[in-house]
Amino acid sequence: MKIQNNRNHLKDTVAVIVGTRPEAIKLAPVIQQLQASKKLQPLIISTSQHGDMVGQIFSNFGITADLDLEVMRPRQKLWDLSAILSTELGRLFSTRQISAVLVQGDTTSAFIGGLCAFYNKIPLGHVEAGLRSHNRYSPFPEELNRTMLSRLASWHFAPTEYTAELLRKENIPENSIYVSGNTVVDALHWMVDRLKPQNLPGGMMDGSRKLILVTCHRRENLGLPMRSVALAIKYIAESHPEVNILFPMHPNPLVRESIIPILAHQRGVFLCEPLNYDEFLDVLQKSHIVLSDSGGVQEEATALGKPVLVLRRETERPEGVEAGTLRLVGTDVQDILRETEKLLTNEDEYLAMTKGSNIYGDGHAAEKIIRILEDQLNSNECCLPISSDEKRVHFAH
Ligand code: UD1
Ligand code: UDP
Repeated sequence: MKIQNNRNHLKDTVAVIVGTRPEAIKLAPVIQQLQASKKLQPLIISTSQHGDMVGQIFSNFGITADLDLEVMRPRQKLWDLSAILSTELGRLFSTRQISAVLVQGDTTSAFIGGLCAFYNKIPLGHVEAGLRSHNRYSPFPEELNRTMLSRLASWHFAPTEYTAELLRKENIPENSIYVSGNTVVDALHWMVDRLKPQNLPGGMMDGSRKLILVTCHRRENLGLPMRSVALAIKYIAESHPEVNILFPMHPNPLVRESIIPILAHQRGVFLCEPLNYDEFLDVLQKSHIVLSDSGGVQEEATALGKPVLVLRRETERPEGVEAGTLRLVGTDVQDILRETEKLLTNEDEYLAMTKGSNIYGDGHAAEKIIRILEDQLNSNECCLPISSDEKRVHFAH
C-alpha cells in the first residue's frame, strides 16, 4: 500500500473511495469541495481497481490519492477483487479515525467500501444513489451493487427526482434522501472551462469529417455482443467513407480481443488507448454521433446535446431518453446500422436528438453534498462527548 498523508486533527475526516475511471471523474468535484471545507477533510483512497485510468483522471483534476491499495490484477475475477478489497478496506477503516465514508455509483470498490464502512460502524454516504434497471444481470454486477448500497448508506445523494422516487419506493427513509444532481455535470463544467485546443487523437488527420465516437466496455456486452458492435462499426465505415470513427478502447483484454481483430485495419476507424478526460470531452464536443454503453457518457452527452445510440437494451438513465438525447439500440448489427443511418442521413431525426438537457444537474451537486455532510457531521447531537464507536452507531440506519 502506498501512503501519503497530512491530517488536520480539528477537522472530521471523510474517506472517499475511488476505484474506477467514472468514480474518479464523479468524485473529483466532491474531493475538491472537501479540500476547500473548513470543517471536513478528505482521506482519498484509490483502490486502483483501474490503476492507470484513475491516475490519468486525478492528474487532470490535480488530485493526489492519500492511499493506494493497488488491488488491480490482470484478468481478475469479481470474487478475487472483492476479497482483496474487503481485507484492505476493512483493516484500514478499523485503524483510522474516520467520521464518514463516501462511495459513488455501483462498482465493486464502491460496494465493498460501503460494506466495510458498515462492518466498522462508520456512516456511509452514497453518491449517485437510486439508479435502477430492475434487471439484476444488466448491468452486471452493478444493479445489485447499487441496490445493496442503498441498504448500507445513511445518506443517499440521488442525482434526480426520478431516482429519489425509486429510493422512496424501496422504503429508504425520506429524511436520508437528498436530490443533489449528478456530480458528473460539475466535473464536465470544470474541465470544459479549462479545455485547451487539442489535436484529434489516434492519428486522425481530417478534423473536417463527421466524427462518430464509440466506447464499449460493459461485462454483459463482452464476447458476441461486442463483436457485433465491431462488425456494425466496420459496415458503417465501409458505407460512409466521409465519416471518421474514433474508438478509445477500455484496457480490459476481453474488450480488445473482440474489437481489434475486426477493426484494426479498417479504413476510417481509429482505435486508441483511453483518452485523458480533457481529450475525451474535446472529442465528445467535436463528435456528430456517439455509440456507447457507458453510463457517464450518456449523462455527459445529455448535458452537451450530443445524440447517443446506447448499446444496451435498457438504461437506468431514462431521463436522457425522455430528454431525447439517448436512444436505446442494443448490440444487434442491423439495429445499430439502421439507427446510425437515420442520424447520418435524416436532418430532422438528427436535430431532434441535439437539444440537450440539464436534467442530470446544474453543476453544483458536489457543493450540495458537502454542505449536507458538514451540517450532519457537525450537528449538536454529533458533537456530544461520546466515544467514536457510539458516534458511529448513532448514524447507522
Ligand atoms: C468497472 C466497473 C463498472 C464500470 C467500469 C468503468 C465493477 C464490477 N465494474 O468495470 O461498473 O462501468 O469499471 O470503466 O466494478 N483491467 C485492466 N486494466 C485496467 C482496468 C481493468 O487490465 O486499467 C482488467 C481487469 O484486470 C479485469 C478487467 O479489465 O480483468 C475488468 O476490470 P474491472 O475493474 O473488474 O471491471 P470493468 O469492466 O472495468
Ligand atoms: N472517458 C474518458 N476517456 C475515455 C473514455 C471515457 O475520460 O477514453 C470518461 C467519460 O467522459 C465518462 C467516463 O469516462 O465520464 C465513463 O467511464 P466508463 O465508460 O469507463 O464507465 P461508466 O460510466 O460506464 O461506468
